[in-house]
Amino acid sequence: MATTANATANIRLPDCLEKIRPKTSPEFDYSTNSNYLNFFVKKTALDFEINFKEKLLTGFVQYSLLPLNNSTKSVVLDLTSINIAEVLINDKQVSNYKIHKQDDEKYKLGHALEVPNFNDAAFVADEEFQLRIYFSTTSSSTALQFLSKSQTDGQQHEYLFSQSEPIHARSIYPCFDTPSIKSQFQVRVKSPYKTLVSALTDKKAQAEETDPSVYHFTQPVPIPSYLFAIVSGDITSARIGPRSLIYTEPVNIDRCANEFKDEVVEKFLQILEKLIYKYEWTDYDFVVAPMAFPYGGMENPQLTLANSTIISGDAENIDVVAHELAHSYSGNLVTNGSWEHFWLNEGWTVYLERRILAALHDESYRHFSAIIGWNDLEESISRMDQKYTRLIQNLKDGSDPDDAFSTVPYEKGFNFLFHLENTVGGTEKFDPFIKHYFSKFNKKSLDTYQFIETLFEYYAAQDQEIFAKLQKVDYETWLLGTGLPPKPQFDTTLVNQCLALSEKWYTVITQANANNTKLTKNSLSQKFSNDADVASYTSNQLVVFLDSLSNYNDENQQFLSTENGQVALQFIDEEYSRIAKNGNAEVKFRFFKVLLKGRVTKEYQVFADWLGTVGRMKFVRPGYILLNECDKQLAVETFKKFESLYHPICVAMVKKDIGLN
Ligand code: BES
Ligand code: ZN
Repeated sequence: MATTANATANIRLPDCLEKIRPKTSPEFDYSTNSNYLNFFVKKTALDFEINFKEKLLTGFVQYSLLPLNNSTKSVVLDLTSINIAEVLINDKQVSNYKIHKQDDEKYKLGHALEVPNFNDAAFVADEEFQLRIYFSTTSSSTALQFLSKSQTDGQQHEYLFSQSEPIHARSIYPCFDTPSIKSQFQVRVKSPYKTLVSALTDKKAQAEETDPSVYHFTQPVPIPSYLFAIVSGDITSARIGPRSLIYTEPVNIDRCANEFKDEVVEKFLQILEKLIYKYEWTDYDFVVAPMAFPYGGMENPQLTLANSTIISGDAENIDVVAHELAHSYSGNLVTNGSWEHFWLNEGWTVYLERRILAALHDESYRHFSAIIGWNDLEESISRMDQKYTRLIQNLKDGSDPDDAFSTVPYEKGFNFLFHLENTVGGTEKFDPFIKHYFSKFNKKSLDTYQFIETLFEYYAAQDQEIFAKLQKVDYETWLLGTGLPPKPQFDTTLVNQCLALSEKWYTVITQANANNTKLTKNSLSQKFSNDADVASYTSNQLVVFLDSLSNYNDENQQFLSTENGQVALQFIDEEYSRIAKNGNAEVKFRFFKVLLKGRVTKEYQVFADWLGTVGRMKFVRPGYILLNECDKQLAVETFKKFESLYHPICVAMVKKDIGLN
């Protein structure tokens, strides 16, 4: 038996990784313009006012910085679409600060603010100093979305929310915009509306505050810039568990709170605490945001933002909250060191999310979710730029991390971890490693090389036989290869009946086509029942049925748009009310997809109108692509009509998607 010390000393990564491993870890972050390696950020204090009239923030950020060497002569921060009013070091004005502009090839991902020390002197290592920057944001901030009254559900008040991940924090305040360093935060905000930030209320400061429009927060756990978030508007809360509040506009609060009954979020939390360790963020509160919020969810500490489509009435999309909650460990405590290693955030989170499902129900639920994920992965990989299908990304040329974003880090990442779990002998053998990994990197940032090293180190010390198996994994394919990874064996219990039903539809339609027979409502009702066919299905099973029908269509000459296909679709529309009248956005979207792929023209306008009610990119982007394929003019008209409702990132993406640039 090797001792731990011996084993660690001998750890060598697989050749394919050893070859490309950088000298220092975590690997340098190529998506920031800042000189973050030269400083330790002891504290970040933000103090600003929200100006709803002009749609901007004004105030200052103050950094308490400790230089890490004696050779750095300036602080360089990321910023984009921000105006600087004044810069001070230790309360003394700095007049010769510079803003490096985008036309400089080096600053593809926004600008850089360079603040030189006085008299061209280097900062002194370990000698703390204060850097204060007065700034205001502009209307081109990609992180901030100001909503007019009519863009909210209550229609009475304006609303502001932010979305920083991956590199939009630099359009809120000048910052070291990299996930590889973290800082504690102290925040003071003045706003006419109830305001929340991704931190705890600073109870002492709040109690002493005399101005009711001023809010005080503190974030004692160090966080990277991308986890800073703010929401301000007409919001109210309901308690849904001992550690959780749900926030939303008053008109929605009952519906939202009801979706999370029986303290389900507390159950999620306890499962994670058992699997990993105690929850370190005190509370888990979240906001169900207005329709324009572009993601399903975003894991800002103490302020997850969730899309309103997760409130589907059937509690079947609350796994989005399980996912964001799991980020409290994977991402928020243990963080990817750069966006090239984003799978460490998302792959781990999907893995944990599915462990929650397994603990709450049983293993078949975990596998069911993994199968849906696998199907998404197959579909995205078949469509996307292959260079972004690698688990370790290459963003060294200044590629925008938003462009690299896809299902890949989520699902290929999950499948990699699932493969490791199986390789070591299942959850029983893998779970102790989970604890070890999250303990070792607690409050740190890391890269994939450190992850593999830790994996090897751990099992080399525990069990040589397992270690030998782990060394045989094909890391090159998993981490550096493009395209689909090897497909694991999933438990298909929960998908079997959905796939059998879609196969039956496919067979009936294509055989009728082959035999030149005409399907009728009558002939179909001899083969299919009405709702009884799908009565026992959960919404997610309906999703599988509809996705499978779409896939058959793509693979087999678009049979849905044949005459018999139309008759079949009309039957489904009229007889499967569980599908046709479903309020769950995931089901609705899949059904529209089937109808539009079947070129059911009378549905085009209905779908176009629906696109004006959801802002989540998961639906909006493929939605416009689909509408564009069916009716280009309608797609362009619809987009122009609703453009102002969508988030700036979403607008930019859809424009690219349907060639409107
Ligand atoms: N952190 C992501 C959202 C994100 C990623 C925003 C990258 C910007 C850049 C969040 O945790 C997430 O993954 N959301 C998913 C939820 C789903 C996987 C349950 C989403 O929005 O669909
Ligand atoms: Zn996530």
